[in-house]
Amino acid sequence: MAHATSLSNHQSEVYATNASFVYSAKYTHAVLSLLDPQPGEKIIDLGCGTGDLTLKIKDAVGDQGEVVGVDSSESMLSKAESASDGNITYLQADIQDLPKVLDAKYKGAFDAVFTSAVLHWTKRDPRGVVEGISWLLKPGGRFVFEFGGFGNTVGIRSGIHQVLRDKGVDPEPLDPWYFPTAAQYTKLLKDTGLNPSEDIALYPRPTPLPGDLKGWLQTFVRNTFFAAFTSEEQETMMGQVQDICRVDNHWADEDGKEGWEIMYVRLRGSATKSQ
Ligand code: BEZ
Repeated sequence: MAHATSLSNHQSEVYATNASFVYSAKYTHAVLSLLDPQPGEKIIDLGCGTGDLTLKIKDAVGDQGEVVGVDSSESMLSKAESASDGNITYLQADIQDLPKVLDAKYKGAFDAVFTSAVLHWTKRDPRGVVEGISWLLKPGGRFVFEFGGFGNTVGIRSGIHQVLRDKGVDPEPLDPWYFPTAAQYTKLLKDTGLNPSEDIALYPRPTPLPGDLKGWLQTFVRNTFFAAFTSEEQETMMGQVQDICRVDNHWADEDGKEGWEIMYVRLRGSATKSQ
């Protein structure tokens, strides 16, 4: 689930250019190690996108295991399907509504629920997500997650809010991001009946961008925060955000090398369902 809304084919190409690093081994090693998928296990990947990590999980559980990927984007799912040889089940759904939209056969069916780089798009109903996870898990099953936590994209988000306020628009209702603290998410897990582990924590991760900040804004901000504006206004506003953020997010060396970097903050951890 690249976003909580579906992506068009074109948007999913742009996503691949500006965001494919989210699937790189360097960035996914920690959460996959925490999942530690075992041969024969049944695992569901929420917000699987183009299925890069879903495939790795399927390799680990092997022929005796079963893997299901869920995403809201039809174009991402069709990419995932064509890469999978039909040995992974892919379902289209909003992960905030799972018990309402999935077949009853999935209730209590999974040893593990996995999700990476997606739950920060579930501001509408983060509790609904966790209720769905509890519905999916077998007794004793585990939930392993990583997503943007408190302080994620620091500076960039302030720049976006500032540009909206300068246009006389309240940014709060347009902001699609949910970046909880470790304590807030731990409480949500407990309130929803899961047993959070002690290891839930925030991990700052400076992340170099493959292009400039405008490319990133084009992928993640243009059709979310700035969706109601004309494309000319969107261009101007993305330029303004880039200008505001340049001081903290752009570096340049004397030999002419330069680049853009964002401070991502990962909230990573796990929880279990009681036996
Ligand atoms: C993230 O992976 O943390 C993220 C990506 C795009 C927009 C916001 C957050």
